[in-house]
Amino acid sequence: MEPIVVNHPLVQTRLTVLRDADTDTETFRRAMRDVSAFLAFEATRTLPVAACRVRTPLEETDGVVLSDPPPAVVSILRAGNGLLEGMLAAIPSASVGFLGMARNEETHKPEAYYAKLPARMSERHVFLVDPMLATGGSACDALQHILALEPLSVTFVCLVAAPEGVSRVAQAYPSVTVVTAAVDRQLDENAYIVPGLGDAGDRLYGT
Ligand code: PRP
Ligand code: URA
Repeated sequence: MEPIVVNHPLVQTRLTVLRDADTDTETFRRAMRDVSAFLAFEATRTLPVAACRVRTPLEETDGVVLSDPPPAVVSILRAGNGLLEGMLAAIPSASVGFLGMARNEETHKPEAYYAKLPARMSERHVFLVDPMLATGGSACDALQHILALEPLSVTFVCLVAAPEGVSRVAQAYPSVTVVTAAVDRQLDENAYIVPGLGDAGDRLYGT
């Protein structure tokens, strides 16, 4: 499946701030939180709702609520947590899961160190969040873990993707929708996305 690239001016201006090597930690964190709320609007466009009745100050009318159980937002630690606050601003009722994954600096392969997911995953729509989709190794390992639980759908939300990562996810998991602010040119020899924004986790947490 082709990725959905969110070309909205409010997304692209934040992405520019995130790319800027001179952006400080505080500004970086705020821009990532803001942009994730905008990406959430696109990613959640087809979420099912249930009809309800609501009483306005004047009369009763039709309304909708998100279907139960609420969606799950799953963050790939650490950098995924940079997108969590914005996602939860958009879906306040969401349940939250975490998958700890660190890329080995030499092999560029992810090493899993933690997993905690909400109950009833098979009844939920899932939003997996991580700002960077580089080789696609971390995303694919996380998707394998989640898809084994047979959720209703999985959407991968990221900020910057490399063509290599997009192809790898599409080939391995064609049912997964990828929502991103940009698909960049390529990976460099260290498997960093170029032009990219550098190491998202380090910039987010000032390490
Ligand atoms: C980064 C990023 C992704 C992964 C992407 O995390 O947040 O999880 O690399 O690379 P890939 O597509 O080649 O797997 P990292 O492993 O550096 O950990 P961190 O979030 O703790 O900084
Ligand atoms: N992880 C990052 O944080 N940035 C990249 O460009 C690639 C992997």
